Amino acid sequence: MFEMEAGKNEIFVTAPGKVILFGEHAVVYGKPALAGSLDLSTFVHVWHKDQDICLRLVDFSMTLHWTIKQMAESFGGFMCKDVHDVAMFSAEDIERLHSNAQLCVPADQRTSVDIPAVLVFLYLYSSIVGSKGITQLLPLDVEVASCLPIGAGLGSSASYTTCLSAAMLKAVDAIGKKGLNSSDLELVNQWAFSAEHILHGRPSGVDNAVSVFGGLINFKAGEITPVKCPVLEILLIDTKVKRETKTLVDKVHKRKSVWPAVVQPVLDAIGAITDTVQHNFNLGNTDFSELTQLIDMNQGLLSTLGVSHPKLDEICHLAMQYGFSGKLTGAGGGGCAYCLVPPGSVGLEELMRDLKQKGFCCWRTNVGRSGVLLHKNVEEMRQSKNNIPKCFAK
Ligand code: PMV
Repeated sequence: MFEMEAGKNEIFVTAPGKVILFGEHAVVYGKPALAGSLDLSTFVHVWHKDQDICLRLVDFSMTLHWTIKQMAESFGGFMCKDVHDVAMFSAEDIERLHSNAQLCVPADQRTSVDIPAVLVFLYLYSSIVGSKGITQLLPLDVEVASCLPIGAGLGSSASYTTCLSAAMLKAVDAIGKKGLNSSDLELVNQWAFSAEHILHGRPSGVDNAVSVFGGLINFKAGEITPVKCPVLEILLIDTKVKRETKTLVDKVHKRKSVWPAVVQPVLDAIGAITDTVQHNFNLGNTDFSELTQLIDMNQGLLSTLGVSHPKLDEICHLAMQYGFSGKLTGAGGGGCAYCLVPPGSVGLEELMRDLKQKGFCCWRTNVGRSGVLLHKNVEEMRQSKNNIPKCFAK
């Protein structure tokens, strides 16, 4: 049995968010999409306590406590026997988890368990840490903070489920004996995917795959394939307009039902753009002038599908004035856009200044770096990332 000693054996984990570079919406109809890991990550720090379990969600300004007894009584039914038998929760299981969670918090804090991040924690803690047996539950303090905007289509939830899965698996010594090997990553991915069901009902698995394995992946009809590509620099821009993926997917579906002969060729063209980009990457050809034209075309086609937004159009037009190409990423209707930053570009600072003046948030970041990482200590964690939440910075 792994023993966490106070002050020692702290666990530090980071896991990146994702950006869809090409192919969103068409992917719903069996076309390929390309998604890559971002330099923006979620951070988790776990350390041993004398008693109780504590979850600090820094971005929600929320701290919750449970006693070991409460955990054992309320969530004993969720403990798995072997961490390699990853549970897949049904809707009824999630409902049961939710009602048990409500009984565990004071009446004035009941709404906190409506926050899916809390349920995900209870699920992963009780399933994974509980796998050692009900008498072996560890008193842990778990602190989480993220650089990713929530609900903007950048995979913030998958980076959270990935980080927590890795941290809980590490706490019971199931992974990370010498860094993270491929079977460790596979296990983290299975748990993260399983936890994503609590958040999204029927997730595609792209977000957690990117967060766990990093790099760039091709996603087509449920199949996930790594793609060799250079690390790409992008400017990521948040419109701060909230949107619901489901509403936008439904919108495209409606358009397709009304005008199948118009919409199908648009989806085919988006698929052809993604195939072209991937083909070039496979050949080791990163022709930035071609990539930027393909980005422009993809944005035009998404606009035709009705999933752009005046703020997204404004960003793309502004980018064009400075010679950059941008498109929405994810579901659209708000959320984020990205602009490709080819090496040696000029005018980026000016573009960023204008975007900020217009009230947008933007980050200069890279696509295609590492996935989930276990860090030896806080220093190493800080050094490995360009963007760090305040609570983990010096
Ligand atoms: O914005 P996100 O991360 O929810 O991306 C949605 C991508 C879609 O293609 C629009 C939907 C999907 O399930 O693939």
